[in-house]
Amino acid sequence: MDDANAVEAAGVPTSALNRIDLSSSDIQQSASLLKQACLDSGFFYVINHGISQDLMEEVFAQSRRFFGLPLSEKMKLLRNEQYRGYTPLFDEVLDAANQIQGDYKEGYYIGTEVPEDDPDAQKPHLGPNLWPSEELLPRWRQTMEIFHSQALNVVKVVARIIALALDLEADFFDKPEILSKPIPILRLLHYEGLISDPSKGIYGAGAHSDFGFITLLATDDVPGLQICKNKDAKPQAWEYVQPLKGAFIVNLGDMLERWSNCIFRSTLHRVIGNGQERYSIALFLEPNHECLVECLPTCMSEENPPKFPPILCQTYLAQRYGDTHADLDVYIKEGV
Ligand code: OGA
Ligand code: NI
Repeated sequence: MDDANAVEAAGVPTSALNRIDLSSSDIQQSASLLKQACLDSGFFYVINHGISQDLMEEVFAQSRRFFGLPLSEKMKLLRNEQYRGYTPLFDEVLDAANQIQGDYKEGYYIGTEVPEDDPDAQKPHLGPNLWPSEELLPRWRQTMEIFHSQALNVVKVVARIIALALDLEADFFDKPEILSKPIPILRLLHYEGLISDPSKGIYGAGAHSDFGFITLLATDDVPGLQICKNKDAKPQAWEYVQPLKGAFIVNLGDMLERWSNCIFRSTLHRVIGNGQERYSIALFLEPNHECLVECLPTCMSEENPPKFPPILCQTYLAQRYGDTHADLDVYIKEGV
């Protein structure tokens, strides 16, 4: 029995997702496949994205090296007010209503490096990164910076196809007020080899939809990610998204759901631990801090007026990050 069958035997089916080939010259066809995927599940694979397998493997190897450090070393890089650095186990609680303790995962946030003397450096998700020293983890910073920049290029290409799928000009999101100073948040994730138990509120990552615009996700070959295509259905029906070697899994976030007036929905997903350790790497693309997210011109009509009031990206993100992350005071009280 192969892995996919083993999973199905456990009663959870596998989702068949469309593959968007970024090397294809037929962008209209890509847009149509992507649109179908967005209307069906809000999740798809991106293949032939141009990031080499060697670099992908190097990033995972460096991620394993970091999470393999003693906790005391990792805590020296504890995330700061601007969401940079290490997030310990339970730092994030994605589904407070159904979780007992928080997510059984640790993470590491890396963003665009903005020098300390730049006025933007004070904004959340911008400013200088926290880096492990070169002596501790040689080539770590370099590897992450290269990957961060290449993954940003990939997600910008995806944004162009999304624009076409929403009947907008391909470069709609490239406008200066939208993506001239984007917030691409790279997050390394490590799930311990714990077996999740939804009946007891124990999850690798609680059910959530991503906060922002678009998420790119690379995973190792351990299954765990599940999606729920219809978040309003009761009971909820979950399907596995299987890892696809060399591909990114892409999903849409809540900001795009608002922007598109729910034509493209953000999809509920979670991570279920099966007892094996698991690593994944996400890149969350958010527009400029000052970008006003308001109903797109092609997503409203007289019969379908805007469902959400306009909101600044920075206001929305601050709310969502604040709601889901531990208060940093917790760590001071714990004396770490
Ligand atoms: C996330 C997420 C999935 C995974 O970080 O938002 O959904 O497979 N991660 O780690
Ligand atoms: Ni997510």
